[in-house]
This record gives sequence, structure tokens and C-alpha cells, in this order.
Amino acid sequence: MFIAGNWKLNCNIVQGSKLASTILKNIEGKNLNCKIAIFPPFTCLSSISDVLKDSVISLGGQDCSIHTNGAFTGDISASMLVDVGCKYVILGHSERRMGYKESNALIKTKANVAQNMGIVPIVCVGETAKERNLGKEKSVVKTQLLNSIPNNSKGSYIIAYEPVWAIGSGITPNIDEIKEMFVNIKYILKSSGNNDDIKILYGGSVNINNSLEILSCDEVNGALIGGTSLNADEFSSICLDVK
Ligand code: PGA
Repeated sequence: MFIAGNWKLNCNIVQGSKLASTILKNIEGKNLNCKIAIFPPFTCLSSISDVLKDSVISLGGQDCSIHTNGAFTGDISASMLVDVGCKYVILGHSERRMGYKESNALIKTKANVAQNMGIVPIVCVGETAKERNLGKEKSVVKTQLLNSIPNNSKGSYIIAYEPVWAIGSGITPNIDEIKEMFVNIKYILKSSGNNDDIKILYGGSVNINNSLEILSCDEVNGALIGGTSLNADEFSSICLDVK
């Protein structure tokens, strides 16, 4: 199991360091059955990297550039993420796909660049409410998957299925719907020549009340948690509850 905390645009350095050190304190010395990674904003990465040094919690970035260096004002490269101690990067989150019009092709390029830098891309996919209401959720996710996962399908990457309508809404698909989509994603990945063991996370309104049920679904390999990951005690207890 893999539990990831996506902090989004939250926390200054003091708040972020406190949040990370509280999570660390909560889980230290306890029996853990999951890998944990947190994804603070770029400005906190360096300080939090120090907080997490030699700990069981890994660090990740929330995005990266398609470029390695040069005249690209505002960009952060995958190698810069590696430089501050990141092992993972979230790519193609729906807030970037929709808010910044990121295309599948762009996300794929970022995923390739990240992999080449030795950082594991977490490629996000998921349908909108409108697409689900039209019965198009599987075809939307298939198009996103086939066009935004890295070229080197044998290399390391993770998929996060996050229905857009479940993000920050307090609403989640039911277990049968989650299972159906995960089976679909596994089938698409396998039939397009990908490794059998690609990990797939569920994301969208995961909290302390629903995490056990969602994570008990055989197909689900972990969770990408937004809002609840800003609460150190709740995030820690989700991690500690993993069987
Ligand atoms: P949420 O966000 O847990 O607040 O719904 C999840 C995400 O956007 O990754």
C-alpha cells in the first residue's frame, strides 16, 4: 500500500515543517504496512527534506517542467526535485489538466522526463461528473491513460484514479464503482503491454471514515489524499490503519 498526501497550495515553511514533523512523530516506532509520501508546495521542499531525512516518509513534488534547465521562467525541473530529495512527482492532476489546460501529450512528456531523472511519476486520471453521467467514464480514463503514461511502460510509474467530482467534494464512488474502474484500468494497462504490477491509487475525498473500506478493495494499491493530508493526526491514523 502507498499513502500519498497532496498538500496542494497550502502551508508556508513553518506550517509545513510542523505538519511533516507531527506526522513523523505520530508514526515513529509504530508498525507500518504502507509506504508514505508527502507532496508539499515547492517552497517547503527543502526544509521538509531536512525534517524527513533518514525517515520512512518520502518526499514528492506536485508537478515538474518538461525542461531540464534554461529560460523557462516559473518552471521547476525534475532534476531540481531530485536535488531537494524528491522520489516522486504528481503529474496531470485534474486541477492542472483543467485549470492550466494541460494536455495528455504534455503530461506524457513530463512523465518521460521525470522517469529519465529517476523520479517516479504519479500520473493522475479521472472523469468529470458530466462524463460519468453520460456513461463515458471508462473511455475518458482510457484515453487519458493511453496518452499520458510514460513511453517506458516497463519503467517505474504509478497511476492515481481521481474522479474529478470526488475531489474535495466529500463524495466518493461506491466500492463497486471503484472496483469496476480499477479492473478497467488494470485491463487497459495490461492489454497495452504494461507491467502487471503497476500500482493504482484511489484519490478523491479519502478521509478517516472511508479509508479502510476503500483500501480494503483488492484492486486498490493505495490512496492519494488531499484535504485530509493537511491534518497530521488524521493522515497519520489513515497510514497506521493500513492492514
Ligand atoms: P481530496 O483531494 O482528498 O481533498 O479530495 C485529492 C486530490 O486532489 O489529490
